[in-house]
Amino acid sequence: MDTCHLPVGFFDSGLGGISVLRETVARMPQESYLYYGDSLHAPYGVRRTEEVEALACAAAEHLIARGVKAIVVACNTATSAAIGTLRRTWPELPFIGTEPAVKPAVERHPGGRILVLATPMTVKEEKFRRLKAQYEDQAEIIPIACGGLMEFVEQGLLRGPEVEAYLFDRLDPYLKVPVSAVVLGCTHYPFLRGAIRRIVGRSPEIIDGGAGVAQQLQRVLAGRGLLLPEGPPGRVEFENSLGGPEILALSRELLAYRDEQID
Ligand code: DGL
Repeated sequence: MDTCHLPVGFFDSGLGGISVLRETVARMPQESYLYYGDSLHAPYGVRRTEEVEALACAAAEHLIARGVKAIVVACNTATSAAIGTLRRTWPELPFIGTEPAVKPAVERHPGGRILVLATPMTVKEEKFRRLKAQYEDQAEIIPIACGGLMEFVEQGLLRGPEVEAYLFDRLDPYLKVPVSAVVLGCTHYPFLRGAIRRIVGRSPEIIDGGAGVAQQLQRVLAGRGLLLPEGPPGRVEFENSLGGPEILALSRELLAYRDEQID
């Protein structure tokens, strides 16, 4: 098979990257996708950087062994810990990373007050500190580490009192002063958009980076002559390090999930 017809590989610490996958499938339905969720080792966001680097390399190795033409690191945490190592280890293969959508948030809300929800690792890594430093003269950027939040999505719990109690505890202290935008800096969080909206109220814009990653993937594939022309829909295949049919069924449900939100 020529490289062009290979699937695009995705990986994440679990199911969060499916929020990026659904944007990508919507943008390039003719492509095939192989999604590897490393739910066995989730969460990544509270581990040491070297551990996440090793897990990211293992996930990439798995996808490469299955045959992929590019890899989307559909995880902000793994991107901040490992994107450099991945690119150095496999220089021929395009890797597309994910980072909190601070740039679009600042462009749309200059001078605004912007909350960035992400994992503890993402907010403390150098990559995010540099991103924040780049924009903090243009807006007030407030990172909020949300350890424990991705677990709700891994359990398929996307709304309800438990999720909202967590979000209220974490976000309420920041909501006394008006907020312009909330950046979802972890790929699990778009699945909690409806619950987040209920806590932050109607006015802040809720921004996630999924569509930007899909656009970047399209650019990279086109640039390397790897983009399939428009045609019939490709295949979407899921694999998960946890094994068992339940996690794969939840993966497919999340791919089809559309939130009942008041955006
Ligand atoms: N989905 C991941 C991210 O985008 C992280 C969740 C975790 O493993 O802590 O950061």
